[in-house]
Amino acid sequence: MISISVLSLKGGVGKTSVALGLAGAAAKRGLSVLLVDLDPQGNATSILQARHGRRHAATLLSHPTSDSMREAISKTAWAFKQGRVDVVASDPALIRFDSWTGPRAFTPKLARALKRLEGYDVVILDCPPSLGALTREALAASTLAVVVTTPSYFGAQGADRAIYEIDEIRDSVNPDLVFAGIIVNRLREKTDEHRYRKKELVDIHGAGAILKPAIPERVALQQAESTGEPIQSLKSAGARDVTRVFDKQLTRLLKLARQADAASADTTSAGPATS
Ligand SMILES: Nc1ncnc2c1ncn2[C@@H]1O[C@H](COP(=O)(O)OP(=O)(O)OP(=O)(O)O)[C@@H](O)[C@H]1O
Ligand SMILES: [Mg+2]
Repeated sequence: MISISVLSLKGGVGKTSVALGLAGAAAKRGLSVLLVDLDPQGNATSILQARHGRRHAATLLSHPTSDSMREAISKTAWAFKQGRVDVVASDPALIRFDSWTGPRAFTPKLARALKRLEGYDVVILDCPPSLGALTREALAASTLAVVVTTPSYFGAQGADRAIYEIDEIRDSVNPDLVFAGIIVNRLREKTDEHRYRKKELVDIHGAGAILKPAIPERVALQQAESTGEPIQSLKSAGARDVTRVFDKQLTRLLKLARQADAASADTTSAGPATS
């Protein structure tokens, strides 16, 4: 099971669209996907048309046990021939869990609850637009972290801050966490400003840190959101463009997860390093 956090400090850059796009791509391949909606706004939960009851992400964080984990999972309207997307739904009460009082007081709850979860191939964690305790919970529970940005000056700044946070969580509570890269969203290739900002990201972070391909700006993503369907089910040319991009990004992420797994197995079997 691999778990992928989708984050950025900045709001509205496309975290939820990316989380859902990757979830749809994985489910379409026949994988079992669990989306954990850690954003109190609950956008992913409503797009997935989750049929959730009184158990959700906030009740899970109150009682982070394997039993609460199972109870917090709800079915959604997203099902393909073989794969499907289930959800741990958001709730406004999540906001109570977002206050950050510093690394010393941080004992990850979600990671504990997810540890013994079975029956899923991929877990995707949609984060709120802040680097508070909820985003840190997601990072502490993840194998991979993906940072989403738009090709803009403030987007690049937000990405820097998110990458810094990923390093902090790796150094403190989750040594297995891998920064998988930056996803550039809403790219208009023909715009000079967008090309410039994309190049700026490459210059700062290196070409390898940018997850290719970038996601083009397409109204199909907004249409999919308003009808609550996976972008993979829409038939327009724009939907097909974006579907192809998510599929390629998913392939890259699964490969990175396998590499991380192999590296971690090597370290474990080699035993402690001697000097
Ligand atoms: N590539 C795209 N092309 C066109 N519209 C897009 C694209 N990506 C996202 N959007 C639209 O931009 C809006 C914001 O996207 P989204 O909700 O995914 O951002 P977010 O980062 O999750 O926001 P928040 O910080 O509030 O959680 C949505 O209406 C979405 O449909
Ligand atoms: Mg969102």
